[in-house]
Amino acid sequence: MTTINEIADLKERARRRVPKMFFDYADSGAWTESTYRANEEDFRKIKLRQRVLVDMTDRSLETTMIGQKVAMPVALAPTGLTGMQHADGEMLAAQAAEEFGVPFTLSTMSICSIEDIASVTKKPFWFQLYVMRDRDFVINLIDRAKAAGCSALVLTLDLQILGQRHKDIRNGLSAPPKFTPKHIWQMATRPGWCLGMLGTQRRTFRNIVGHAKGVGDLSSLSVWTAEQFDPRLNWSDVEWIKQRWGGPLILKGILDVEDAKMAARSGADAIIVSNHGGRQLDGAPSSISVLPRIVDAVGDRIEVHMDGGIRSGQDVLKALALGAKGTYIGRPFLYGLGAMGKAGVTLALEIIRKELDTTMALCGKRRAVDIGRDVLYREE
Ligand code: FNR
Repeated sequence: MTTINEIADLKERARRRVPKMFFDYADSGAWTESTYRANEEDFRKIKLRQRVLVDMTDRSLETTMIGQKVAMPVALAPTGLTGMQHADGEMLAAQAAEEFGVPFTLSTMSICSIEDIASVTKKPFWFQLYVMRDRDFVINLIDRAKAAGCSALVLTLDLQILGQRHKDIRNGLSAPPKFTPKHIWQMATRPGWCLGMLGTQRRTFRNIVGHAKGVGDLSSLSVWTAEQFDPRLNWSDVEWIKQRWGGPLILKGILDVEDAKMAARSGADAIIVSNHGGRQLDGAPSSISVLPRIVDAVGDRIEVHMDGGIRSGQDVLKALALGAKGTYIGRPFLYGLGAMGKAGVTLALEIIRKELDTTMALCGKRRAVDIGRDVLYREE
């Protein structure tokens, strides 16, 4: 077996272990995937400033995100269907994040429920909310997240309408997954994954089934998801959700300066500069390329986080340098999970920590909180 040194190694191992339709679900972006690619490529265009003979002892990656202490400024992003990368995927990822000391964010579209995560963790986790047309169901989710002690609500704004993902369409992937002979073959050729799944009872969308009106089983869920994302979502809904929730609120999916200004006025605690990992509007700019102008516009009024394309600790450092107070990883932890379950999520975090620590030191900084634009190389 090859050694795992970087996130790309975890990705290749996940490709071999996870059935194609679920691996592709994690790996794909919208349409031509140009935004998905730009998210990764634009990080590589940013050059770092090498410094020498600075005291590098006693380094620290610790900081805070929305005032909550984190071992490093890297949270696990909310991802749907995570339990299809590995049996009990959300619970394993939540435990790995908790042990590591970084936030885990549970998606509305997860396989396990809010209560499942609460039952296997000791510290508060974060919950991501999609606003559905059925507002009673939205209230149900908010109240359950409160009852479970979630310490932040991440409200996703960039999925009023589902982006078109060609790989998912070609693979016939739907929510919930339907199993055709092709899918069954894909699963049969991944025996390790299948065996894991046999041992779990948590293969339904447990946040939704039994909670949303008219959704009692998986076939009613499929009709429900197709029509429930709310195209009328607006800023007064954000205000309503903020009131109902009453705790720390993070707005996810901001990519435009004007939207960032609105978000800063909304009274939320943070925004996530994000294009949903290139899964929504193909042709939109990368998150890292718009981050500086959003920080310049609102960074003095609201905490700015970012996600999209982070594949190493170097990328985290570049995001911090451009003004992000925190970052999120989606696919890197999903690859780890698909490759090796909980140990793979821990490994993904360890890889990123080591890369961040080494890069920070070589840039002449000892503490993550001191990273600023001065670590970036500028052409004279
Ligand atoms: C996502 N993302 C996402 N976001 C969200 O708010 N709710 C969700 O349910 C999902 N689901 C989801 C599934 C999968 C498979 C992926 C890859 C992503 C977007 C996610 O939170 C985050 O914005 C991106 O994943 C960040 O980009 P990287 O790190 O994957 O490049």
